[in-house]
Amino acid sequence: MTSFDLIVLGGGPAGYTGAIRAAQIGLNTAIIDKREVLGGTCLNIGCIPSKALLLSSDHFHFARHQAARHGLKFENVSFDLTQMMKRKQEVVRQLTQGLEFLMKKNRITRLFGTGELVAPGKVVVTKKDGTQEELQGRDVVLATGSVPAELPNVTIDRQTVVTSDEALSFNQVPKELVVIGAGAIGLELGSVWARLGSKVTMIEFLPRIAASFDPDVTQVLQKALESEGVKFHLETTVTAVAVGNGNGTAKVDAIDKGKHKLQLSADKVLVAVGRIPYLHGAVAKDLGLKLTERGRVAVDKHYRTNIPGLYAIGDIVDGPMLAHKGEDEGVACVERIAGKAGHVNYDAIPNVIYTNPEVAGVGLTEDLAKQKGIAVKVGKFPFIANGRALANDQPPGFAKILADAKTDRLLGAQIIGFGASELIPEAVTIIEFGGSAEDLGRTVHAHPTMSEAVKEAALAVNNQAFSIPPR
Ligand code: NAI
Repeated sequence: MTSFDLIVLGGGPAGYTGAIRAAQIGLNTAIIDKREVLGGTCLNIGCIPSKALLLSSDHFHFARHQAARHGLKFENVSFDLTQMMKRKQEVVRQLTQGLEFLMKKNRITRLFGTGELVAPGKVVVTKKDGTQEELQGRDVVLATGSVPAELPNVTIDRQTVVTSDEALSFNQVPKELVVIGAGAIGLELGSVWARLGSKVTMIEFLPRIAASFDPDVTQVLQKALESEGVKFHLETTVTAVAVGNGNGTAKVDAIDKGKHKLQLSADKVLVAVGRIPYLHGAVAKDLGLKLTERGRVAVDKHYRTNIPGLYAIGDIVDGPMLAHKGEDEGVACVERIAGKAGHVNYDAIPNVIYTNPEVAGVGLTEDLAKQKGIAVKVGKFPFIANGRALANDQPPGFAKILADAKTDRLLGAQIIGFGASELIPEAVTIIEFGGSAEDLGRTVHAHPTMSEAVKEAALAVNNQAFSIPPR
């Protein structure tokens, strides 16, 4: 039996980051994944391929609908979906290969197969050919990720009724695409296919899309997507999805606002109603791994489970199912195993939806502040008053900063606009360092940049914005 200081089960962002940190610390580390390539959902069928398609489809949309404003002429603009998918796969290949290189460089033992913790510290790996290998680990980190959630009344056949796994690889543009769930996945993939010509209808059971953001943010997003042709049915519940015999089209039945019956036809239905932790076969049942009420693995602040020597991180434990949250947990967990002071600041985890405009947020929203009874001051600045946004032809949206009403400490930020994903880290950093809205407002920002709108929003918290009258 081969022995390791640390065995990581799952090669997604949480697992591979934890493995690399462990190797850096000097732990003899192994990583096991049943996929032939590392990277988990994020690199293979999530964050990365979706960003590749979002960019390609955005270029097409620009060439078709916006280029003329710039005096650019593209006649008969069209696209080659096969090439678009090929580029996407090439991006994935480059990154996953890079990970293999990182494993080698850090001398991490890489095992292909399904790992199962059969006893504390003992992992059995079952390989594709059925052979098994037994490993001993002083500590074991579980990072097995998540899979798409399903709906009780909807059968996912992976042909007509699909998850994000398939919607990232359609081999032709659906004529009519119904998306159930207007969260991150639904909005991003709905955007991709709408830009490429699908008639997209989104069904969301909450009264607004992207509900983790404030209503003023989601209103701008919804309007922008509607202008791209996306239709929304909010407060709508899907009651049935029936796939027609032979022709592969679906009929989606729903109830709108609890009253009106709605029937939509679609050649593809994307179910994007969240994700659930994936633990299938990772821990032998008789070990009695403790779960929370919501089905996540129960851990303490050191990421320890109830099984001796077993830790859990990433999508299988509480918190947002985000790659970067998992990565930071990977580092913190391994540092704690090694007796160091690893730490994740759960108040400073950014969240982004990569539509156009992008939506990005961190920390408190106005909604949350109200719910928690925290008095906040809010500063807002629109991109229409920002020189770079106008020059970039990207005016919709705004930056919004929330600060503690008494202390001015920065508690949250939301940005909707072009490149919001690259603007939010500034607010994240200020929150991480316990800084104030004034700190952000008094920091020199390059001109002309869209980041000046973030600075102005911070100044607006104390009615000191320059470019628009104070609120
Ligand atoms: P989500 O939780 O973001 O959104 C799901 C949406 O579906 C919610 O708005 C919910 O109200 C709605 N919903 C649930 N049941 C429904 C029903 N029966 N009928 C209609 N609507 C229903 O989940 P999503 O978009 O599937 O993403 C899964 C996870 O992956 C999330 O944790 C998300 O944060 C993460 N993710 C992050 C991305 C990013 O950072 N850009 C991109 C993609 C996913």
